[in-house]
Amino acid sequence: MKTTPLKPGSTIGIFGGGQLGRMLAQAADKLGYKAHIFDVFADTPAGRVSEARTAAPYDDLNAIREFSQSCNVITYEFENIPAAAIHEANLHAPVFPSAKALETSHDRLVEKIFLSDVANAPVVDFFKVETMENLANALDDFSGPCVLKTRRFGYDGKGQVKINSPKEIRSGFARLGGADLIAEKFAPFVREFSIIAARGQDGDIACYPLTENIHKDHRLHTSYAPADDPQNISGKAHNITNRILNALEYVGVMGVEFFEMENGELIVNEIAPRVHNSGHWTQDAGCCDQFEQHIRAVTGLPLGNTKPNHTILMTNLIGDEIKHIDDLAKQPNTFVHNYDKRDIRLGRKMGHVNVIVS
Ligand SMILES: Nc1ncnc2c1ncn2[C@@H]1O[C@H](COP(=O)(O)OP(=O)(O)O)[C@@H](O)[C@H]1O
Ligand SMILES: [Mg+2]
Repeated sequence: MKTTPLKPGSTIGIFGGGQLGRMLAQAADKLGYKAHIFDVFADTPAGRVSEARTAAPYDDLNAIREFSQSCNVITYEFENIPAAAIHEANLHAPVFPSAKALETSHDRLVEKIFLSDVANAPVVDFFKVETMENLANALDDFSGPCVLKTRRFGYDGKGQVKINSPKEIRSGFARLGGADLIAEKFAPFVREFSIIAARGQDGDIACYPLTENIHKDHRLHTSYAPADDPQNISGKAHNITNRILNALEYVGVMGVEFFEMENGELIVNEIAPRVHNSGHWTQDAGCCDQFEQHIRAVTGLPLGNTKPNHTILMTNLIGDEIKHIDDLAKQPNTFVHNYDKRDIRLGRKMGHVNVIVS
């Protein structure tokens, strides 16, 4: 299918005013487009660098209608937008990635079933958990530890707890509110990595190379790319990613999180229907960065080059760490990114730094 790209000066609506929305708006600006940010708050990191802002709750369908009518295309920076908001928006301007992609990733159980049954992607064994008995059965079936997760609204390791033995069932179940849970078999991975990939409106797919991710306190700490590939799994990971994108008829950038096992087996942990923290390294690697890539995809432009000229180590600046940004900026081969968040809070992502390793 041949697509006609949006004309320069067109408006891209973005749901969410955080750092991902900000970097998307900056990429839109670079390509000659305007950004209009929809967020609960008026003063946001993304709103400050954009042409227009709407401040309203996500269930205010009138506000969503007015916002959408001012946009030529709409996208989003986070996945917990109510489906009703996306459906309303889609009546007035095309929304990419589609409601189907968003709804699939809303619920970990729906997502796992989609991945295994529709996209033919490998996932850990999992059980739907509504009662303590379900959880006991899951533990029994796995004959090993499991990770109990809320099906919805989990992020940065929130809404999950590891259950090592039957005696932890009661407390773990209670801690997560006791319903609408999923139990996943604990995967003793040797490494976590992600594939950042994009699919255009014409069905073209472009994948970035393997990104190795290190988490601290269940939150992404560093990403390193292109990562070494001693088990030669890169081709397999790209194939799986292609299947996921095609199965969703996806348009935009997606982050696919993987576990790499000792025997070279791959497991898809989760998908994020948006630009992804582990893709920030692309900004300083000499290729088309993930934000520009996403804007290209949703506006119908051809996808950009995903082959980096450099190896990059990206480190998140969390909370107080942002105070060192001036010192970091003095270091050689170092690029700092400050999200301009007004309050430093414990655990809050405030910025990141990309270092060219080679
Ligand atoms: N089944 C599992 N086995 C082993 N580790 C897991 C499992 N599920 C999650 N984890 C660990 O917890 C982290 C966060 O879990 P994830 O499902 O990605 O949720 P979030 O939405 O918070 O990123 C993962 O990156 C991984 O380190
Ligand atoms: Mg994750």
